[in-house]
Amino acid sequence: MSAPATRWVDVGAFADLKFGPGAPVRIDGHWVALFQLDGELLAIDNNCPHASAPLCDGTVLAGKVVCFLHCWEFDLRTGACDIGEQWNVRRYAVRRDGERVLLEWPGPPKTA
Ligand code: FES
Repeated sequence: MSAPATRWVDVGAFADLKFGPGAPVRIDGHWVALFQLDGELLAIDNNCPHASAPLCDGTVLAGKVVCFLHCWEFDLRTGACDIGEQWNVRRYAVRRDGERVLLEWPGPPKTA
């Protein structure tokens, strides 16, 4: 039997997330930004692929986050970049389990 390709990672209690507008969380040394959009919880890579500004500090407008450094836009539901698909950021499935927030992370479970 092969290991699962993804795993659900507990990224913390919803009440502890600091949305401003995105809430950064760190998984396996990688930063992900969580956003709330129309009552939905969404997650994309936090690093802007242009010059690494944190997308969690951008501005949310019409379902996109606008990077604060040079205004590239990323669709919060798909990760698509308005400049071109080679600049798309990865999106992640995310859900709540009661008060906890779980994010689907690529890769098999970590072993101790
Ligand atoms: S760093 Fe995000 S658009 Fe330049």
